[in-house]
Amino acid sequence: GKSPFTLVIFGGSGDLSKRKLIPSLYNLYSLKRLHEGFNVISYGMPGMSTEEYREVVRSSIDTYYKRVERGDLEEFTGRFHYISGEFHEESRYREILDLHRDLSKEDVQLVYYLAIPPVFAETVIKNLGQDFLRESGYPRKVVMEKPFGVDRESAGRLNEVVLKVFREEEIYRIDHYLGKETVQNILFFRFGNSIFEPLWNRNFIDHVQITAAESIGIEHRGKFYEGAGVVRDIVQNHVMQLLALVAMEPPADFHADMIRDEKLKIFKSIRSMNEKDLGENLVKGQYGEGDEILAYREERDVEEDSNTPTFMAGKFFVDNWRWAGVPFYIRAGKRLREKVTEIYIQFKQPPLKLFGDECNEIVPNGLLISIQPEERISFRLNSKYPGSENYPHPVEMEFNYKQLGTYDNLDAYERLILDCLRGDLTLFARQDGIEAMWEVADPINRYFEKVDTTSLPNYESGSWGPEEAQDLLFRDGRCWRISD
Ligand code: BG6
Repeated sequence: GKSPFTLVIFGGSGDLSKRKLIPSLYNLYSLKRLHEGFNVISYGMPGMSTEEYREVVRSSIDTYYKRVERGDLEEFTGRFHYISGEFHEESRYREILDLHRDLSKEDVQLVYYLAIPPVFAETVIKNLGQDFLRESGYPRKVVMEKPFGVDRESAGRLNEVVLKVFREEEIYRIDHYLGKETVQNILFFRFGNSIFEPLWNRNFIDHVQITAAESIGIEHRGKFYEGAGVVRDIVQNHVMQLLALVAMEPPADFHADMIRDEKLKIFKSIRSMNEKDLGENLVKGQYGEGDEILAYREERDVEEDSNTPTFMAGKFFVDNWRWAGVPFYIRAGKRLREKVTEIYIQFKQPPLKLFGDECNEIVPNGLLISIQPEERISFRLNSKYPGSENYPHPVEMEFNYKQLGTYDNLDAYERLILDCLRGDLTLFARQDGIEAMWEVADPINRYFEKVDTTSLPNYESGSWGPEEAQDLLFRDGRCWRISD
């Protein structure tokens, strides 16, 4: 059921709010999926009034809202309020409570949304722990954006701070990839069918590829990105989650903690690499110029000799019974040729070559789970090409979401906001999982920090990344499903 709420956004005029949160709220509002008694309070930089903030809300919808449903925009923006304060100004937080009291009746839940860079998270959480807020008795939740901390240690410390103020079940650590329909479908596809699971292991699978490519650059986020880089921005969270969904064992039940337990085992089974392995299995990249496109180092708020990676490729192993010896190749980056997120699972060749010749080889079976922008699952098989020669011919069996016609298509943030309001934690990350993902990411970051800066930038904007990323697979006799 729907219940009333006050959403308090820290960073309400930042990039994430403008691009995702405000448009998502507006769509939910237009679809009448929100309780009528909701309000939004944005707490942020001094120097803005509520009227000016409502202008931000309108322009965010103007720019980023692409749906056809359009609820009453004036009524919608009228629910937004602004409180100006620095994150460290303890006393200003009282205004949040006062405003919430003015706006709503008793028992209305307060949902704090931290849409701010990780450096501010601790300060805000500590201030939310002030007695007057805790003792006010309103049900409350906190939504925390990734990256959660900047490494394993800071994530652990941040968690201690959060757990002093909130109970575990009040903490929503968001990874919006988990809210995507196509991502949720991975587990359905694997465990809702009986014919794939018997093949889903080292005996039949040759290797797995995960690509999370973006064509956009860092946009206006130079400050954030300089301190983050591709590993903290995308790999430690989104890509690791995808890997876990492909690799995890079936949970005994489709329950939040059971699923998270299984994912945790995968994060912990990812083989750690020594210095030599890191050098061999990882590729760091940073984008240079492209056709009328600035190089990373020329972007605003970026150092001119910046060492920050905007691309990485790597070869990983999951050391467990199911996956021993099967490489998982991953790559992620900005300013690549196209925006595409996909998982490709390549099966082994049949044991004996009965068909084809050098020019008409049979191709390995491959399962493509395309997350975005195309939303489809497609399976490649060989069939016989009609005629007297025994020529193999690859064919595709495909499920495309388009086949479903129209359906209630909520995007990732919309779905996760609703889940949070309802109190469903299934699609949110758990602290132990986050720390385990940092254990994978930390050595990569340490290694990348040491890599010589003189070779950067090392890929052209609009390409598929540095040459070395192709070599990573070539030398194993394989290649990326999509490349030049
Ligand atoms: C965010 C990153 O988590 O994901 C951004 O911070 C990135 O840098 C975005 O652009 C990509 O999300 P999506 O849903 O467009 O694939």
